[in-house]
Amino acid sequence: MNTPDTPISRRHAIAGLSALGATSVLASTNAHAHTNALLTNTDLGWNQETKQFALLPLPYAYDALEPVIDEQTMRIHHDKHHNGYVKGVNNAMKQLEAIRWEQGDPALIQHWQRQLSFHMGGHVNHTLFWSGMKPEALGGGGQPTGNLSQVIKRDFGSFGKFAKQFTLAATKVEGSGWGWLVYEPVSRQLMVTQVQNQQDMMIAGAVPLLGVDVWEHAYYLKYQNRRADYVEAFMRIIDWEEISRRFEAARR
Ligand SMILES: [Fe+2]
Repeated sequence: MNTPDTPISRRHAIAGLSALGATSVLASTNAHAHTNALLTNTDLGWNQETKQFALLPLPYAYDALEPVIDEQTMRIHHDKHHNGYVKGVNNAMKQLEAIRWEQGDPALIQHWQRQLSFHMGGHVNHTLFWSGMKPEALGGGGQPTGNLSQVIKRDFGSFGKFAKQFTLAATKVEGSGWGWLVYEPVSRQLMVTQVQNQQDMMIAGAVPLLGVDVWEHAYYLKYQNRRADYVEAFMRIIDWEEISRRFEAARR
């Protein structure tokens, strides 16, 4: 049923989400519409028959990102936390469907819409997070090349200035959230943004390219309160080839 990463499968992904009643997610947190344009239904574990998402395995071993991110953190983060978002979005969709069919409590629509937005954000963010990293030994880290490298220089002054702003923004997120490099398609420029929780404070219409998870569950076992050290180390495992692929897709 699901197909590889092609423009057609991307359209199916968006159509599938809309058919589910997830249009409210796309409308209320417009980052998702664009994020889903970069991901396929396959990437998100979408099953058209059951109308449920599934948690897919990591694209590498749990210990592949050692020593930057330790194996235990990866196991708990992926198997428990990411899985929780998958279950949460599936449940929110079921609850909203029940309300549509007059089998649920309409007074709870705001609650379930919020749950849908939060958990879909969690599922999409983590899916992009896992595939945006690769082991240092296999070429993770360093700097991007090609168009992305040039546009980073144009919009931030230099790669160093970008890295400084990205790590500072991520480190200074208030509470739980993410630091993101996004592409803003109206002004056609790259921006750094903070996201609180899984979805708040996204720049409207911006396409997320590179995200670092700064929820404590992402780093606390190894780094404790030293979030800045974790974010600094994260720069060594970025898969810039994948981020460049997303950038080219976002610009099209
Ligand atoms: Fe996380």
